[in-house]
Amino acid sequence: MEWAEKLADIQPFYVMEVLQRAKVLVAQGRDIVRLEVGEPDFPTPAPVLEAAHRALDRDQTRYTEAKGSLVLRQRIARWYGTQYGVDISPQRIIITPGTSGAFLLAFGIVLNPGDRLAISDPGYPCYPNMIQLLGGVPVRIPVGPEHHYQLSAPLLLPHLSSGLRGGLITSPSNPTGTLIPNRSFAEVIALLESEKGVVISDEIYHGITYGEPAKSALNFSDQAIVIHGFSKYFAMTGWRLGWMVVPEEAMRSVEMLQQNLFISASTLSQQAALAAFECGDAFQDQLTIYDKNRCYLMAALKELGFIIPVEPLGAFYIYADVTRILAETGLADAQTFCRLLLEEAGVAVTPGLDFGQFRADVHVRFSYATNFSAIEEGVSRIGQFLGQKKPAPLPLEV
Ligand SMILES: Cc1ncc(COP(=O)(O)O)c(C=O)c1O
Repeated sequence: MEWAEKLADIQPFYVMEVLQRAKVLVAQGRDIVRLEVGEPDFPTPAPVLEAAHRALDRDQTRYTEAKGSLVLRQRIARWYGTQYGVDISPQRIIITPGTSGAFLLAFGIVLNPGDRLAISDPGYPCYPNMIQLLGGVPVRIPVGPEHHYQLSAPLLLPHLSSGLRGGLITSPSNPTGTLIPNRSFAEVIALLESEKGVVISDEIYHGITYGEPAKSALNFSDQAIVIHGFSKYFAMTGWRLGWMVVPEEAMRSVEMLQQNLFISASTLSQQAALAAFECGDAFQDQLTIYDKNRCYLMAALKELGFIIPVEPLGAFYIYADVTRILAETGLADAQTFCRLLLEEAGVAVTPGLDFGQFRADVHVRFSYATNFSAIEEGVSRIGQFLGQKKPAPLPLEV
């Protein structure tokens, strides 16, 4: 049987493969320190679980309307008021099966076949795959530390002449944990909108910031498509729930796509998510833990020879340049480093290759969404691993 030709363009989500290998090693009895996966590692707050139990007891298990539960959409609208000072009507909000579902809807309403959408390289690996699946063309724009690893108006400008349907901003970013500076965000939005381009803003890591809170694209424009969800700040990955804010005139198209693709998001998860808004203290406590992990890991990695040119002020990732380490150890590239680190030292981290092509061979991503002792253990093992790989100093001549 031959499968669709477009599959040739789809890349694996390597981190899921690292994760799978890590699980195999754990099943074989190996003790693996898991710094690869972008998943909060703390229990769901009790009120969220209780809300889910209550929904089950009442057999609230039928479809909701396609746009999602109105109560939840109203709660999210209120949250935009308190978090960002913007007034968003619940009529502009749709509840989706994770932000992943929201991306399919967003790309579905935005892209005609062959439309080009700008994304950063490095960036979240699923974007280009989804864009291609829907007939669009991802335009990967290399971004380095000098750009905070984010798109900017000057970087977008040269691509406008070949036609851009729009651009996708992820701030804080996966894999780099960096934020787009507010001025640059405003400039990107103004530039794209002046060319009738669409701005899609993935705000899934909002709430997880260690300095100033991130601004929403909705602070700068009513026309932006904003995607957010419950997987990261609210730590509800497996509940598969996200949402999207769209301009009011796009809502009918989004709703029709949702009806056809998903019917509606999970009813049980929507009931549980409502309670998540009342658990701010638990999420703030978690943020304190992330920040402690972040500071410790950043300092320890630098000491071990990793290069981290821009301080990651959001999400729970550090994107480290391993150029110096490769030179000292003779390892071929970041992929080899990650493979040997997992097999020999039992530490799982993600190779840069997962996030694009630009200098991917010399970068790795660490996720610190885990407990502090795991991170300490990971650092100690990486230290030993590097010690073994580096050539022994030549004996002093006498
Ligand atoms: C930048 C970014 N966007 C979206 C997602 C998908 O999240 P969800 O669980 O809401 O589908 C992830 C998951 O890691 C992510 O890093």
